[in-house]
Amino acid sequence: MDSVDSTNEEMKRRLKHQNSLENYDAVVANFQTNGKGQREAKWESSAGDNLTFSFYFQPNNLKVMDAFKLNQAVSILIADFLKSIGLTNVQVKWPNDIMVNEKKVCGVLIENILSKDELLESIIGIGVNVNQSRIESNSNSTSISNELQEYFQIKVIAQELISYLRKIQDFINRPALLQTRFLDLLLGLNENRKFEVKGIEVSGKILGVSSNGNLRVLIEGKEQLFEQKQIRFLFD
Ligand code: BTN
Repeated sequence: MDSVDSTNEEMKRRLKHQNSLENYDAVVANFQTNGKGQREAKWESSAGDNLTFSFYFQPNNLKVMDAFKLNQAVSILIADFLKSIGLTNVQVKWPNDIMVNEKKVCGVLIENILSKDELLESIIGIGVNVNQSRIESNSNSTSISNELQEYFQIKVIAQELISYLRKIQDFINRPALLQTRFLDLLLGLNENRKFEVKGIEVSGKILGVSSNGNLRVLIEGKEQLFEQKQIRFLFD
């Protein structure tokens, strides 16, 4: 599509009006007028420079309490794809920002449709900074072309990335592998980092993530678990 409010919203409309959507049916937009980020933020992306798309995914037997496995699988596969095109130092900033050299190159917004205890359907929205060259120095973000000094065709990136993402279900079925691969990618693992908790700056060592996706942080000798809304990374 050329322009749409948000590919996640467009996908939700299609889900409502079309009675059959298949896994990996996708909406790719050249420009979003109201792109959405996590924590009710906006996702701004200049027209034509970047990849913004959403796809439909119906997990097989995934419990609501295991929903984070989907985020983990998506993050790992995006990271694998980025490494395959030559990027190095690719990491995941919890819960699912994909970073290169500690700068954000890709954001993920997953919206789930749940039954009582099962995750029935997902709209997985992904924004990748591909050719964006004007990056504000204080924004802590980067783009693929900025890192590799090379121009990429958005269409090719989209196709290749989606082919990596086709392994989501395989990963979800292998929780031990999922957890090791995710921890290998986790930015700041076993390091002391600064965070904001309840408006206060705290320092703590990242210990990993719990099975339901909470961040485990050692603060003043005590392990604490945080949901996404409760903690924010502070970069120096
Ligand atoms: C974040 O890091 O805050 C998540 C950003 C997700 C952006 C993508 S772009 C395609 C899809 N449509 C949206 O409105 N958001 C996601």
